[in-house]
Amino acid sequence: MESLLATRLLGRAANWANELWDTLDSTNERAGELARAGAREGVIVMARHQTGGRGRGGRTWISPEGAGLYISFILRPALPPAELPLMSLAAGVAAARAIKLTTGADDIALKWVNDLVAGGKKVGGILCEMPSMPQGQAAGQLSLEQPPLILGIGINLRLDLQLLPAELQDRVDWLERIAGAEVDDNQLAAALAAQVESVYGDLKNGLRSKLVQDWKALSVNLGRAVRATTGDSEIEGTAHDITADGALVIALPGGGFVTVHAGDVMLRNADGSYA
Ligand code: BTN
Repeated sequence: MESLLATRLLGRAANWANELWDTLDSTNERAGELARAGAREGVIVMARHQTGGRGRGGRTWISPEGAGLYISFILRPALPPAELPLMSLAAGVAAARAIKLTTGADDIALKWVNDLVAGGKKVGGILCEMPSMPQGQAAGQLSLEQPPLILGIGINLRLDLQLLPAELQDRVDWLERIAGAEVDDNQLAAALAAQVESVYGDLKNGLRSKLVQDWKALSVNLGRAVRATTGDSEIEGTAHDITADGALVIALPGGGFVTVHAGDVMLRNADGSYA
C-alpha cells in the first residue's frame, strides 16, 4: 500500500511507521493507542482481519479475514470542535470518490450520517473517534500536538454472506459484486488516503460549504421519507437539508422542522417499511 501512496500527509508521518496487521482487535483501537503514545498526524493502521471491529452506536463491525478494507487514519485537526463532525461527512465523500476511482462503481451514495450505500444496501461505514488522552493532554496542554481524531473506515470488498447474522444478509453489499471485478485492497487504501487528504485539506481551508454541497450531491436522503432514531426518540418526516455543521434537518408532516445532530436514519420504502 505504501508504494502506491500519492499523498503528502497521510501515510507519511515523520518517525512513525504505518502498520499493516494480519489480525487486530480494531484498527481504531490500535490507532488510538498509537496516538496516546504520541504518534504524529498521518499514521495509517490497516488490518486484514479484525476480531473486535467497532461500528457506530456501540455496534460490532463484523470483519472477516480479507473480506473488507479495515483502515484507520490518525488526524490531529486544528479545527474548532464544532467542525469536527464534518470530518466524518467529508470522509464519506472521500470514500465514495476513492471507490469510484478504483473500481469504476459510480452508484455509491451516502446515507446520513456516514453510511456508504449502493442500491439501498450498506457497503461501508465510517467511525470517527476521539481517543481518551492521559490527564493534561486532552486539550493539548502538555503536548505540542493537537488532540487526535481517529478516522476509521470499513468497506465491504468480498463477503461470504454465511458469515453474517441472518438479519444482515439482505441489507449489505460488497464492491467486487457491484463492480463485477476483483478489487485491489492496496489500491483502494491508497486512493482512500489521497481522497481523505483532499477533503481534510478542504476542511482546513475553510471550504465547509463546498464539502456539505459535495455530500448533498451524493446523498440518498434528501427529499426522502425518513425515520430518525436519536437517543430515545424517533422522528418521522422528510429529509429536508444538511446544515453547515453537518446535521440533518427533517421536515415534519404537520409543519416545522427538527434538526438531528446524531443518530441513525432509515429510509421509507414503497411498501411503507423502513430500512
Ligand atoms: C459504521 O457503524 O457504519 C461504522 C463502521 C466503521 C468500521 C471501521 S473498520 C476500520 C475501523 N476500525 C474499527 O474498529 N472500526 C472502523
